[in-house]
Amino acid sequence: MAHEEGRRKFFGFALGGFAALGGVLSLGAMKRSWDPLPSVEAAGFLTVDLSPIKDGESRTIEWRGLPVFILKKTAEMKKNENRDVVVEDANYVVVIQLCTHLGCIPEWKESKQQFHCACHGGVFDADGLVVVAPPPKPLSIPPFKIEGATLVLGEEGPEYKQLTAKV
Ligand code: FES
Repeated sequence: MAHEEGRRKFFGFALGGFAALGGVLSLGAMKRSWDPLPSVEAAGFLTVDLSPIKDGESRTIEWRGLPVFILKKTAEMKKNENRDVVVEDANYVVVIQLCTHLGCIPEWKESKQQFHCACHGGVFDADGLVVVAPPPKPLSIPPFKIEGATLVLGEEGPEYKQLTAKV
């Protein structure tokens, strides 16, 4: 009986260990896929050159340990003057890719143009607005400043202040 319990505990620990290892490895893989844009980080500011992004293309970069999702909208995509970051006449979605419910990373589903959170089924549209609860509010827009075709994350420029004043 005690032997059986010991076996069960062992398998429980082994399974937990594999799950933890899998989690760490997938985080590592995700981290490696971050930051594909030319960017420079200094004193908490991240300077991101947006010029390589094509219409409809999205990237996730890391800023202060947070995933920041950037999408260049196509001409067909709906503009949102309360949420879009406009850089050199192009509209971008720039949001912190953390679910506003309990902080999971929602996955961008390009085919649906939505973010889906696997933790409790929350859904956000391409602008980061809540489509399906439980998330209580839209995805956050990180503080930013615009310098030509460059986005400076971490600094509250006039465009950021204008956007946040509307919400
Ligand atoms: S953490 Fe995303 S729905 Fe709960």
